[in-house]
Amino acid sequence: MFFEGTGGYENGGEFRPVGDAIRIHQPILTWVGKLLTGIRTALSRAEGWWFDATRRVQTEGYVAVYQVTFAASGESGYDYSPTRPSTLRKILAGLPVADLTEYTFVDIGSGKGRMLLVAAEYPFRKIVGIEFAGELHRQAEQNISRYRYAGRRCADVEAVHADAMEYVFPDTKLILFLCYDRLPTLD
Ligand SMILES: C[S@@+](CC[C@H](N)C(=O)[O-])C[C@H]1O[C@@H](n2cnc3c(N)ncnc32)[C@H](O)[C@@H]1O
Repeated sequence: MFFEGTGGYENGGEFRPVGDAIRIHQPILTWVGKLLTGIRTALSRAEGWWFDATRRVQTEGYVAVYQVTFAASGESGYDYSPTRPSTLRKILAGLPVADLTEYTFVDIGSGKGRMLLVAAEYPFRKIVGIEFAGELHRQAEQNISRYRYAGRRCADVEAVHADAMEYVFPDTKLILFLCYDRLPTLD
C-alpha cells in the first residue's frame, strides 16, 4: 500500500493511503506505541522479579546515576537498568563457542550483578563483574553471597569495584558482555 504524508510522527503529520479512504492518525499510532512499550516494560519487570524471587537476590529496579557514588576515576556514570535474564541466555545460546569451561565471562558495568548470576547457569571457568558505583557493587556482592539456585554451574563469581577503563583484564580467553552502548570503548 502506498502512503502520501504531510509530515512524520514527530512533527504531527498524518499519512493517507493513496486512493484509499483509510487514514492513520498520529494519536492512534502514538497510543499503540505507548501500549507496546508498556507491555514490554511490564514483561521485563515480571521476569526480573521472578528471577530475584527464585534466586533470593535483589537485582530488579532502576537506579538513577545521581543516587550512586563512583569509584576510582569515574567522572560520570550511567543509570542502572538491568538486562532481562532471557536476553543474556539468548546471546549465550548463539555464541560460536564449543567449550565454555575455557572462558571467563566479564560483565563490564555489572550493576547489581544480575548478568553474573545468569552467567553462573553456564559452565564458565570464572565470572567477573566490574562496577564503579559503590552502592551497586555492594548490592552485587550481597547478591552473590545470597544466590541459591539448583541450576548453578559456575561457582567462581567475583564482583570487582573499579572503573572498567582502569581494570586489567586477565590474560585468558574472555567473553565480554557490554550492555550499554554509551560505555567507553575498550582498546
Ligand atoms: C545499564 S547498567 C547494566 C547492568 C548489567 N550489566 C545488566 O546488564 O544488567 C550499566 C552499568 O554500568 C556501570 N558503568 C558505567 N560505566 C562504567 C565504568 N566505566 N566502569 C564500571 N562500571 C560502569 C553503571 O554504573 C551501571 O551500573
